[in-house]
Amino acid sequence: MRLAGMTAIVTGAASGLGEATVRRFHKEGARVIVADIDLAKAEKVAADLDVDGKTAKALACDISKSEECETLIDEAEAFFGGPVDIFHANAGVAFSGNLLEIAPEKIERAIQINLIGAIFSAQAALRSLSRSEKPALLFTSSLQAVLGRPGRSAYTATKHAITGLVKSLSLEFGPAGVRVNALAPVGIDTPLLRDQLSRTTDNVDARIAAMADNLPLRRMPTPQDFTDSAVFLVSQEARCITGQTLVLDCGASAGIAEPRTR
Ligand SMILES: NC(=O)c1ccc[n+]([C@@H]2O[C@H](COP(=O)([O-])OP(=O)(O)OC[C@H]3O[C@@H](n4cnc5c(N)ncnc54)[C@H](O)[C@@H]3O)[C@@H](O)[C@H]2O)c1
Repeated sequence: MRLAGMTAIVTGAASGLGEATVRRFHKEGARVIVADIDLAKAEKVAADLDVDGKTAKALACDISKSEECETLIDEAEAFFGGPVDIFHANAGVAFSGNLLEIAPEKIERAIQINLIGAIFSAQAALRSLSRSEKPALLFTSSLQAVLGRPGRSAYTATKHAITGLVKSLSLEFGPAGVRVNALAPVGIDTPLLRDQLSRTTDNVDARIAAMADNLPLRRMPTPQDFTDSAVFLVSQEARCITGQTLVLDCGASAGIAEPRTR
């Protein structure tokens, strides 16, 4: 167990990549907080991990509200009886559409959650992480942190911003021993991806298969692939790695792949 004796919070942990990660951190021996805006779903995940509630607890938090992030950390510290060792700022929302057709509220929502929420939650967590002996702050970013994509403009802007955030925070908190990194996946089959694709196609399964076919490795990462990299980045195996955005993209950012010949 690579995270034995550690404490961890994952935001957006009631679904998708956050849920997969909080389950994996728990399996690796960490005591965990399942944090999400959807408390009922978070409670189901926490109860599934530990019905007695000793090693897993659900807490409600809307990361776009600074005071809720502060309360999350206070309640987590009370549950752990000490500081937070691992904070995974994972919660995020999709955004798709041509910029000329998208409502201003949707642009604001993407920025409010994916960028400001990531900063607010990191700000609250860093007060606690700075008191941990092996602290790690991990952001879920996206391939759109390094590459553009049509129809994803505001989302791409928020994820590029996370790359800069990671670099600055790694310098600011390195002297306190806090490592700060981001994991940037290409599309992974989760409710968020399906929601995003369903806006432009009636056959989401076929679109996902086509996405995999277009990648150099001819496959998409799975949630398990994501959690393998997440555990590595927050564990002591990555003790000299900070300020980095690790792309998990099956080769997508390496260049232009050969088209498949049938
Ligand atoms: N799935 C993909 O293909 C993919 C690819 C690249 C990056 N990502 C990133 O991964 C992260 C998670 O995405 P996912 O695919 O697991 O999505 P998901 O929709 O399956 O899960 C997101 C979770 O975040 C929660 N959430 C939403 N707004 C919140 C808020 N304001 N405060 C707290 N919780 C909130 C939701 O309730 C949900 O449980 C996001 O940051 C996303 O940008 C996903």
